[in-house]
Amino acid sequence: MFDLIIKNANLPDGRKGVDIAIADGLIGAIEPGITAQARQVIDASGRMVSPPFVDPHFHMDATLSLGLPRMNVSGTLLEGIALWGELRPMLTKEALIERALAYCDLAVSQGLLFIRSHVDTSDPRLVTAEAMLEVKDRVKPYIDLQLVAFPQDGYYRAKDGVKSLERALDMGIDVVGGIPHFERTMAEGARSVEALCRIAAERGLPVDMHCDETDDPMSRHIETLAAETIRFGLQGRVAGSHLTSMHSMDNYYVSKLIPLMAEAKINAIPNPLINIMLQGRHDTFPKRRGLTRVRELMAAGINVSFGHDCVMDPWYSMGSGDMLEVAHMAVHVAQMSGVEDKQKIYEAVTVNSAKALGLEAYGLAVGHPADLVVLQAEDVLEALRLKPARLFVLKRGRVISSTAPKIATLALDGRPDRLDPGRNPTAR
Ligand code: FE2
Repeated sequence: MFDLIIKNANLPDGRKGVDIAIADGLIGAIEPGITAQARQVIDASGRMVSPPFVDPHFHMDATLSLGLPRMNVSGTLLEGIALWGELRPMLTKEALIERALAYCDLAVSQGLLFIRSHVDTSDPRLVTAEAMLEVKDRVKPYIDLQLVAFPQDGYYRAKDGVKSLERALDMGIDVVGGIPHFERTMAEGARSVEALCRIAAERGLPVDMHCDETDDPMSRHIETLAAETIRFGLQGRVAGSHLTSMHSMDNYYVSKLIPLMAEAKINAIPNPLINIMLQGRHDTFPKRRGLTRVRELMAAGINVSFGHDCVMDPWYSMGSGDMLEVAHMAVHVAQMSGVEDKQKIYEAVTVNSAKALGLEAYGLAVGHPADLVVLQAEDVLEALRLKPARLFVLKRGRVISSTAPKIATLALDGRPDRLDPGRNPTAR
């Protein structure tokens, strides 16, 4: 007797019409035609069951603060940073927690159950770290939240930036962050990379730096980050987020850089929505896209995952907690329109993100926790195209969110019909 069986499910790897049996919060079987009894049955009817979405790059301390204390008039990255600097002294622990919990509710409804959030440590009050640690604890039953100590105003550039970051790590923040391109000089940026990798090595922590979030092709901190990763023996535990300068770099230089990143097993985390919105702002025309070299990084065997980065905050007034919206943008901006490309893009918001976060027992496999999402879509292509309803979201075998399918009832020329956008018309 199982607790739950999901019948007739398609899987992201292309398997069709399988049943997924769940007992004691774990996946007990994945095979066609399971005949055993279960207390509850969900008929997926040929829709896709996916592992939950994983956001490897977010700012939970800034989310849903849009308009506080004012709007970003120019809509630029630099005004966003300045605006956050205005809001920061006004932040309270209670308000931070309330907004973060509201976002987590939205995330669950979107099937997003794993999030890595950067936490600004620039204000020595560290009210952000205090609040996010409490949020991490409170959402634990349904969201795994990893926190990064992020010196938004610069590790060296911000007053007491060095001390504040260390204190945040002492409080229990999980990951060492950085922002080398925002330090006063390139040399200080490189020095911050070395210092932060050293801290990570000493404390046994992973690293995730905002790295080269600029259109300047000479912003080459990713090279230093890869080299220091190797020097400190941190291979596989280091992420470079954004990496937008790589878009503008000289091709010859990149031909040397990408193998170095592969050697260091760097996790590359571009943020397609934010990168296409904020990069290229100093260009007239032609205007650069600014997204890093996704296809080339993947081809070199580098683990590439996509982050949402921002939802309704000083940098981005949009966003919906939907990693399929992120993936949809990536398909376009990275021009990954080939058949195999779609699979790779889907993996970038699921298995690749899980790998970047070092998640164990993630994914649809027997013995893994029964964390999964039933989508109103038949396959990966439809999921990317439609950003469909998350019909059921399960955590440890329990339905924690459900959404009614979108179905239109048509009456055209006297022909009554129902249109289910989650049914691929070519598959009928
Ligand atoms: Fe970010």
